[in-house]
Amino acid sequence: MDSVKGSHMWDIDGNEYIDYVGSWGSAIIGHADDEVLAALAETMKKGTSFGAPCLLEKILAEMVISAVPSIEMIRFVNSGTEACIGVLRLARAFTGRERIIKFEGCYHGHADPFLVKAGSGVATLGLPDSPGVPKGATYESLTSPFNDILTVENLFEANKGDIAAIILEPVVGNSGFIAPKPDFLAALRRIAKENDAVLVFDEVMTGFRLSYSGAQEYLGITPDLTTLGKIIGGGHPVGAYGGRREIMEMVAPAGPKFAKFYWGMLEEAVYFAPSQFEAGIFLFFIF
Ligand SMILES: Cc1ncc(COP(=O)(O)O)c(C=O)c1O
Repeated sequence: MDSVKGSHMWDIDGNEYIDYVGSWGSAIIGHADDEVLAALAETMKKGTSFGAPCLLEKILAEMVISAVPSIEMIRFVNSGTEACIGVLRLARAFTGRERIIKFEGCYHGHADPFLVKAGSGVATLGLPDSPGVPKGATYESLTSPFNDILTVENLFEANKGDIAAIILEPVVGNSGFIAPKPDFLAALRRIAKENDAVLVFDEVMTGFRLSYSGAQEYLGITPDLTTLGKIIGGGHPVGAYGGRREIMEMVAPAGPKFAKFYWGMLEEAVYFAPSQFEAGIFLFFIF
């Protein structure tokens, strides 16, 4: 494709298309909105990378926190994939356990531990699992069919005290549309709590779409941690994870215990370009 504007796109031969993809939902107000572009152009004049935190980062953080009540603290990253990597490491650090449960057909980005029975491109291309992912990387990733609470209970039974987190798309968008059965999410919430495991909603696809506060508000279930993607950057490469303060405080710099562990993330936070936040902030004003 060559260019996009509003709901239309043009290829390099000049053919025009109606765009039903909308950058997978992140271009929620249409592409290349004039006011967004003007705001971005202004922000770009201030520079593209400070090597230090910027004000827009703080403003966007406050906006996301006030929009999604379960997010008490937030950490920005560069993509949904990074958000899922960060949340996985955090859940493991918080619980001191390594195993996770993910669901068949759910996609949580292209980090090794999630590329087992994954949805999205992996499912579309019919790849059983992804070549290049070492067995060891997915060894701790247990899988269950979506909406199958019995399997989840059995996994907890068979892995007592070993499961750090349950991670899922609360409404699956990466292997066709799969809605959660009534009580499925409530059962996961209960099981996670009973087993001191962390419940993670990957809202990279549902966040700010199913409702302003995401699937969690729409479906009435509160996760411990949430991941978000490009929607909060107005289509720019931004992601975030956040949630319960008690868990998030383990992330450096608030959590000195894990400062070294999270050194990479600390760096991520200070190397953001302000323009990454500008378009996202603009979207919040529109809503
Ligand atoms: C639910 C979900 N999680 C994570 C990701 C990964 O996000 P990104 O492509 O920004 O790395 C995606 C991408 O489509 C997604 O749909």
